[in-house]
Amino acid sequence: MHHESEYRPLADTDILVSPVSLGCWPIAGMTSLDVNDTDSLATLEAAVANGVNFLDTAYCYGANGESERLIARALGHRRDEIVIATKGGIHWDAEGKQVLDGRPDTLRRECEESLKRLQTDRVELLYLHGPDPATPVAESAGALKELMEEGKTRCIGVSNLQIEQLEEFHAVCPIAAFQPPYNMLQRQIEKDTLPWCREHGVSVMVYWPLLKGLLAGKLPRDHVFQPRDGRAKYPMFQGDEWHKNQDFVDRLREIAQEVGKTISQVVVNWTVHQPGITAALCGAKRAHQIEETAGAMGWRLDVGQLAKIDMALEERGEPVVKPAV
Ligand SMILES: NC(=O)c1ccc[n+]([C@@H]2O[C@H](COP(=O)([O-])OP(=O)(O)OC[C@H]3O[C@@H](n4cnc5c(N)ncnc54)[C@H](OP(=O)(O)O)[C@@H]3O)[C@@H](O)[C@H]2O)c1
Repeated sequence: MHHESEYRPLADTDILVSPVSLGCWPIAGMTSLDVNDTDSLATLEAAVANGVNFLDTAYCYGANGESERLIARALGHRRDEIVIATKGGIHWDAEGKQVLDGRPDTLRRECEESLKRLQTDRVELLYLHGPDPATPVAESAGALKELMEEGKTRCIGVSNLQIEQLEEFHAVCPIAAFQPPYNMLQRQIEKDTLPWCREHGVSVMVYWPLLKGLLAGKLPRDHVFQPRDGRAKYPMFQGDEWHKNQDFVDRLREIAQEVGKTISQVVVNWTVHQPGITAALCGAKRAHQIEETAGAMGWRLDVGQLAKIDMALEERGEPVVKPAV
């Protein structure tokens, strides 16, 4: 089923994006387990087949750009049907540690490399992936503005910035999209950056809508994370927080049953209908996962169901969080 009527404009451009976007980090295979090319290609195809036209990737998704390369392999022949967002400004060093590097030369080089891997001459959206503590945000903004003016990207976004950094960036280069973490249990942006984005007409594309799978409701309470599973390091997957989150997921399960949808569909539907949210970046490494989350489009939770979610959130209380970058 297609959901074009629900597509939303990317800031003030004529680009329309599906409210459910495919997050292309899991297919990079860096922290997700059991990733293989066949399933990753099938996942990308399933996204488009299920009405998802918006793909979120980055220069650093994969040790050697595997995520971008897979997008070109699976969907290169349907380039005009998809909206590609990629990011620059984070890479991996020789020890596999994340490096924030927003210097103008680096951003230009990474953009050229991303376009090559994606086998395209422009993307629709290019983000600064995160703030480089050694480079003023305004300098990174200047470089990205130049890339936009050269036609390498239709517009510019930023991710993981604080409100002062958004202001600083926006003064040099208009921000079309902001990408922060956001989900039912991580709602910090409602207090600061989200109102700023609404005021400035900036689209908000949120990551971790499923809290790295926790809010998909399929991780059993006694789940033991394998050592290579990147999730175990986050507080929400540990100790008391884990049990409180599982109690909350149990409440969502009841609501989902009543709605006749799955937990992840309820969670993503709720997310993309919060005021000011343009899209939820839903990670997947298997076709059935994005098929399921794409089913968050095409319907809406009613007032009574939303009130039950509010009550469940109140019972859950404030969670302990840790930022991604
Ligand atoms: N800008 C940034 O700094 C930043 C940071 C993080 C993420 N992102 C973007 O946001 C996207 C989303 O983040 P994410 O992928 O880390 O987390 P997410 O979307 O919250 O969760 C994705 C994980 O949830 C599980 N899942 C998804 N659909 C499912 C389903 N239907 N049933 C059961 N499990 C399901 C899968 O885990 P399993 O491995 O258990 O199958 C999948 O890998 C990323 O892909 C990336 O594009 C950006």
